[in-house]
Amino acid sequence: MAMHGELQDSHGRMMRDLRVSITDRCNFRCLYCLPETEEAANFYRSKWDALRNPHPAGLEPIKYEWKPKSHLLTYEEIGRVVRVAVGLGIEKVRVTGGEPLLRHGMETLVADLASIPGVRDLAMTTNGFRFAQKAEALRSAGLRRVSFSLDSLDRDNFRKMTGRDALADVLAGIATAKRLGFAPVKVNAVVIRGLNDHELESLADFARREGVVMRFIEFMPLDSSRAWMRDLVVPGREILARLQARFGLKPADQSGQPSETARRWIFADGGGEAGIIAPVTEPFCGHCNRLRLTADGQLRTCLFSLEEHDLKPLLRGGADDGALAARLVEVVRGKEAGHRIGQPDFVQPARSMSCIGG
Ligand code: 5AD
Ligand code: SF4
Repeated sequence: MAMHGELQDSHGRMMRDLRVSITDRCNFRCLYCLPETEEAANFYRSKWDALRNPHPAGLEPIKYEWKPKSHLLTYEEIGRVVRVAVGLGIEKVRVTGGEPLLRHGMETLVADLASIPGVRDLAMTTNGFRFAQKAEALRSAGLRRVSFSLDSLDRDNFRKMTGRDALADVLAGIATAKRLGFAPVKVNAVVIRGLNDHELESLADFARREGVVMRFIEFMPLDSSRAWMRDLVVPGREILARLQARFGLKPADQSGQPSETARRWIFADGGGEAGIIAPVTEPFCGHCNRLRLTADGQLRTCLFSLEEHDLKPLLRGGADDGALAARLVEVVRGKEAGHRIGQPDFVQPARSMSCIGG
């Protein structure tokens, strides 16, 4: 059993990494997350027709209702949870969304989180649309690391995938991050068969040219319309074979980072590195050290948890830090062994990635 004072689960895993979603809202409609566009519906319909996959939820996108503002944790409340979590061994904090830059004044939260002594690593995940405008403020607030989502380098395909004609804005965001010295600058691409898998090599080329770190991610069943199909997943080993064939890759030394989700590879010619994240075909749950806090104050022990743990009653009911810490310890103890994608009993969580936080 975990001792009070640390976040150890019943499988012996120690939590070190807290992902904090600060808003469930987003200004994009990514096909793998909030596929609410006509184009996204058409894409899934065509694949469904072609693959003849039984589709449990029909093809109409589920309209998601944003949480009212009063349900969201305030920056003070988020700061308090992070401080308590850091007191229990959390070292890495990532600010996510939805799109975190949509929340007003989020640089004040970043400054607060950066000032917590135990936070050794503070990062943010963004779609990049507003990053260029916000970059200086974030840098002054103490942010050093940023990950962008970029699934396509083709303007039309980018629009099809994100619901927004915003490739140029995202590229400007990435360029700004480099210019201001954010390091490393990472770029995440979710790979979907028949949609952007033909862009693998060009995305890798882009990363090599720009000196950013590419991360290719398998498509997970976390989209709001539950349109995910196994056939749309490009397995990590296939991504690797494609990159190997084109560039030549050597494995990076990851012996010191057992909880790293990405398998990292170095380009043989010294032109940087690429990582492959394969949660569907090669689950890494056994080493998971992550915990998630949603924008409305729910603690989640897994991306695929079907149960959430509301911290608001404690935060808003006068509980002291000791009681909050005890709650965190108790919740973590019940963390599931791993996700069950591919098992007959798999059930997709009720909320999409935009609510859970990547
Ligand atoms: N499958 C895999 N990755 C996803 N993301 C969002 N939805 C999915 C999904 N269904 C990733 C995006 C983003 C991060 C926050 O989560 O690439 O970079
Ligand atoms: Fe951890 Fe859940 Fe992700 Fe598995 S699926 S790695 S248990 S968060």
